[in-house]
Amino acid sequence: MVNLLFVCLGNICRSPTAEGIFKKLLKDKDLSEKIFVDSAGTSSWHNGDPPDVRAQKTAKKYKIDLSTIRSRSLVTEDFNRFNYIIAMDTNNFQGILEKCPPTRTGRLFMLLSFAPQLNTIDIPDPYYHDSFDEVFKMIEIASEGLLEKIGKDLNF
Ligand code: 4NP
Repeated sequence: MVNLLFVCLGNICRSPTAEGIFKKLLKDKDLSEKIFVDSAGTSSWHNGDPPDVRAQKTAKKYKIDLSTIRSRSLVTEDFNRFNYIIAMDTNNFQGILEKCPPTRTGRLFMLLSFAPQLNTIDIPDPYYHDSFDEVFKMIEIASEGLLEKIGKDLNF
């Protein structure tokens, strides 16, 4: 089994949305047994909190339930446990890099590097801008590209 971790700042908007979208994608493709998916935040501000109600509402429109996810911060052990650590924006990437042991930096990726057609590398922080639908769409598109990359890496 391969382990995949999505990381944003608060782990209440973007990364739990990515966790929910990616798990649904795996379920639809009958790949849930092959890839374990989790999410975390570079901050500890919302530790123990459920996803933002706006993120939950948006996901629900697409039949994705985020309600059981609880925010947690990124910990050093994650760099051993997770084979792919996926940042939502360049600030998150920098925050992850600051905690990352030098031997593990090859595991870090930007989610939108798997969606070059979007012509941007940062998923905007929806917390203050209310851009939850836009964020959902971006993550959905990039998740297809990410799954394709993992499939190539693992030959399935
Ligand atoms: P997220 O969004 O990183 O996508 O979970 C945010 C959530 C909370 C805050 C900022 C961004 N905050 O400032 O509390």
